[in-house]
Amino acid sequence: MRVLLLGGTSEARTLAARLHPRVDVISSLAGRVPDPALPVGEVRIGGFGGVDGMRRWLVESKVGGVVDATHPFAATITANAAEVCAELQIPHLVLARPAWPPGDAILVKSDRDAAKAVQDNGFTRVFLTTGRSGVGVFTDVDAWFLIRAVTAPDLRTLPRRHELLLSRGPYGYDDERALLVEHRIDCLVTKNSGGEMTRPKLDAAAALGVSVVMVDRPALPGGVTTVSTVDDAVAWVSSLGRT
Ligand SMILES: NC(=O)c1ccc[n+]([C@@H]2O[C@H](COP(=O)([O-])OP(=O)(O)OC[C@H]3O[C@@H](n4cnc5c(N)ncnc54)[C@H](OP(=O)(O)O)[C@@H]3O)[C@@H](O)[C@H]2O)c1
Repeated sequence: MRVLLLGGTSEARTLAARLHPRVDVISSLAGRVPDPALPVGEVRIGGFGGVDGMRRWLVESKVGGVVDATHPFAATITANAAEVCAELQIPHLVLARPAWPPGDAILVKSDRDAAKAVQDNGFTRVFLTTGRSGVGVFTDVDAWFLIRAVTAPDLRTLPRRHELLLSRGPYGYDDERALLVEHRIDCLVTKNSGGEMTRPKLDAAAALGVSVVMVDRPALPGGVTTVSTVDDAVAWVSSLGRT
């Protein structure tokens, strides 16, 4: 049984390590970041070419199951995998890490709504952690930004007043707290990514009374089988071919 594991997350790497070499797993990465953390086992890198490309690839590669362990905000690849697997009747699982409880955060539906929330609430010193592709909508917001991203956003779309911090998690509580204090941050903008690797910024914000604007997750496609832990994903893969 060959399994395609859509990855780009720590959970996907953990799952690959748990399954390899017992299961024939091919991990797939989008290829967005230079020098990505690689899972053990076979890896392919790059997009499939939309729904048609993924359909072709799954058939040619004789894949008998797909686990989508991509980031909760990677909505396009998740929709494509759900559609193609339903059509080809390939068993399909989404491994979605639990969302963070929003607490007192200002909840918004999109990066654009997050920018509006920052403007409307009059925040002046913003820690922006929504990733390189979401920065452009903040260009005209009248505030100073500390922008943290793994790779540099398009420099033409950055807000006028900002500092760019290129880094990759995980992040620890003490460092996150020090960053908020040093830059006199009054608002943290984050996606509701969930997971432990980037959670300490929320704990630090709560401890310092820093406001949080949180972008809600996109909905999963209807009818997909979902688990929230690597253990459950291992059990699901192990059950393939038994019926
Ligand atoms: N979005 C985030 O905040 C975030 C954060 C951390 C990590 N990541 C990881 O980064 C990757 C890209 O995220 P995104 O938000 O740009 O995704 P996306 O918007 O859902 O996907 C855009 C396109 O990228 C390609 N793609 C995405 N994930 C892929 C994968 N695992 N293997 C092969 N192709 C993939 C697909 O291209 P084709 O249509 O050509 O197949 C897809 O249509 C994901 O794998 C995700 O796990 C995302």
